[in-house]
Amino acid sequence: MATNRTDGYTTDVSYPAFFYKEMQPLWLTSVARLLGLAAPDPALPFTFCELGCGIGINLLVAAASHPDARFVGVDFNPAHLQTARDAARAGGLENIEFVHSGFADFSSSNRTQFDFIATHGVWSWIAPAHRASLLACVAASLKPGGLFYLHYMCHPGSTDMLAVQHFLNVFSHHVPGTSAQQARTGLELLRQLGEAGLFVDKPAVLARLRKLGELDPSHLAHEFLTDHWHPQHSVEVHRQVGAAGLSYLGSADVFNNLDPQLSIPGRLQGVVNRIAAPALAETVKDMARNSHQRMDLFQREPRPLGREARLAQLDAIVFKLLPGAPTQGPFSFATPIGNIEGPAEILAPLLQRLAAGPASFAELARLPALAGQPGLLLQSLQLLMFREIVHPVKPVPTPGNPHAQKLAQWFERHGISLRLVDECATAVGNPS
Ligand SMILES: C[S@@+](CC[C@H](N)C(=O)[O-])C[C@H]1O[C@@H](n2cnc3c(N)ncnc32)[C@H](O)[C@@H]1O
Repeated sequence: MATNRTDGYTTDVSYPAFFYKEMQPLWLTSVARLLGLAAPDPALPFTFCELGCGIGINLLVAAASHPDARFVGVDFNPAHLQTARDAARAGGLENIEFVHSGFADFSSSNRTQFDFIATHGVWSWIAPAHRASLLACVAASLKPGGLFYLHYMCHPGSTDMLAVQHFLNVFSHHVPGTSAQQARTGLELLRQLGEAGLFVDKPAVLARLRKLGELDPSHLAHEFLTDHWHPQHSVEVHRQVGAAGLSYLGSADVFNNLDPQLSIPGRLQGVVNRIAAPALAETVKDMARNSHQRMDLFQREPRPLGREARLAQLDAIVFKLLPGAPTQGPFSFATPIGNIEGPAEILAPLLQRLAAGPASFAELARLPALAGQPGLLLQSLQLLMFREIVHPVKPVPTPGNPHAQKLAQWFERHGISLRLVDECATAVGNPS
């Protein structure tokens, strides 16, 4: 039976349009600075590479937002790159290049050193040899001080899905049709088996199967039909990336960087707080949150800053409300560990101030409700960033940015409901 795959990865149907604010350069720099580290300066002309860029939505938004920076997308699926190049042309983007290549070939042919390298939806879905090549690319092409964003599937949240993926993969090797058709019919069969009693002891898997039925079958095919579906423990990934010469900074998903009081279920907080060994703490946090995917941020040769420098760069970050952000309570936030009730006495004045216009951290720290409590402000802003209410502002504005406007029109023509927010070098409203 034809497998519709290249090196075990689905290539006969296109991956849909997705956008992740967490892999945008301004976001990555801001998160590193919130963690107290020096980071590439988005006000200077920087270089950014995405490995496994798909149809390039994330890179296109970044390239339109940062006209003075240079972007490179690498992917081995020519159909994906054709869409990406079409969008770049429509946006008049001359600062972006899409390279048709596998990771091993790119690693040996590339001569550019990057300030940022990002990869999303790739690492856990490809053969071990390709993972090694991807990491070799990072080791060879990331500048000292450069940031590496790595998204992957992790335990224990993804563990239960191993049997589901295994079934869908085996099924797809034994039925005709495109990968999308195989994924859809395989999932339907699993649903019927579920009704007949399969997974009776795993209600979470049954609930997940129901949700998966709502997804675009092409998305399902990329997610589940690979011959190399490989969730890992975060500590194991940190060890592998560490061996390539990079250090783990924290999560690009800022929810995970919040104090345990906010990001760990109540009864487990005491346990997490008492663990001193970082690897053990990270393991317990993944277990406490039942994490199924992670967006980890690494740096090559991180340069720790002194207290003054750390505070100065934090003070200088300017924040802005994103379009459609609520400015009034109640302040209840959906999070991976359930609903969190935010403190109205802090959040109300903070959002009120931001409703009047962008403000720097230093300015917000002077609000009477927050005076003398920079730690609380840091936590509050990260919670609001996580919920897409607040976002850092890019340091060099691009008034009337023609590229952002043309790219927005291309999105609209292609039914991609993503709104560019040029002042923040991001977009809102995931097209999925
Ligand atoms: C799930 S998609 C993710 C696309 C994009 N990063 C995103 O998040 O929207 C994975 C991409 O990795 C590419 N890919 C998989 N294995 C690859 C390899 N060995 N070399 C280059 N690209 C690869 C696929 O063609 C696909 O476009």
